[in-house]
Amino acid sequence: MTAMRFDGKVALVTGGNSGLGLAAARAFAREGAEVVISGRNQRTIDAAVAEIGAKASGFVADVSRMDDIAGLIRHVASLKGRIDVLFANAGVARLGPIASMTEAIWDEVMSINLKGVYFTIQQALPLMARGSAIVLNASLSASNGVPDTSVYTVSKAGVRSLGRSLGAELAGAGIRVNVVSPGPIETPIFQTFGLAPAELADVKRQLTESNPMQRFGSADEVARAVLFLASAEASYITGIEMPVDGGAGSF
Ligand SMILES: NC(=O)c1ccc[n+]([C@@H]2O[C@H](COP(=O)([O-])OP(=O)(O)OC[C@H]3O[C@@H](n4cnc5c(N)ncnc54)[C@H](OP(=O)(O)O)[C@@H]3O)[C@@H](O)[C@H]2O)c1
Repeated sequence: MTAMRFDGKVALVTGGNSGLGLAAARAFAREGAEVVISGRNQRTIDAAVAEIGAKASGFVADVSRMDDIAGLIRHVASLKGRIDVLFANAGVARLGPIASMTEAIWDEVMSINLKGVYFTIQQALPLMARGSAIVLNASLSASNGVPDTSVYTVSKAGVRSLGRSLGAELAGAGIRVNVVSPGPIETPIFQTFGLAPAELADVKRQLTESNPMQRFGSADEVARAVLFLASAEASYITGIEMPVDGGAGSF
């Protein structure tokens, strides 16, 4: 792998204080980027910044709130003056059968996973020059039919679609837009499903057994795909969805 592909670059990672975002932020910094991470939780942002080191800084912003997105982008503009890489990663999963889904759950998931991603990109674009890149985080579940994931998967199908439409729209501006679609990856998101330990263990066992590689992926394996798509190595790649799922969506 080429080292220091992001020397002198500025990367903004939403949800960079946990899981896949943190792994990507760490990897961008390791390869030379100055990284700004965002999330809602000041404590975990501070911990992530301390862990990543001097190349990282953090900002509290809820991507479901337009004022927060604008504040985040103003912060990056004043601190760094530009964005070379945007990893629009922040997201939540609220699972359950359709009968249990409420308007409040629908609005929460769409506001964060879809509206948040959309307007983060919109607000970031004035800071992005030719040669910069956007990577979106969708999900394998946007393509596979999985029970009890309807609201989440609708939001992620929107993210996937956004990668294609904006990939086409921004190609002329020299800005590439691509999507990673992770399969099951061990991150704190599984603790948010509201499952009892035995139920969670059962879900994880099923996901493992049904995966062609018979295992979960790691956050670092997703980060490697994100960095590739964000790097000059992917200079002729835009509008694609790259599965990082152990083959779960392919066979
Ligand atoms: N893990 C998997 O198996 C998997 C598979 C496919 C796709 N994904 C996607 O990967 C992305 C990252 O998830 P993860 O697995 O890394 O889970 P995670 O560890 O729970 O991370 C979620 C991140 O999103 C941030 N976030 C959530 N709501 C936010 C909001 N309203 N405003 C700003 N930040 C917000 C969280 O920060 P705060 O808590 O501080 O807000 C956190 O940093 C999500 O979009 C998820 O859908 C994950």
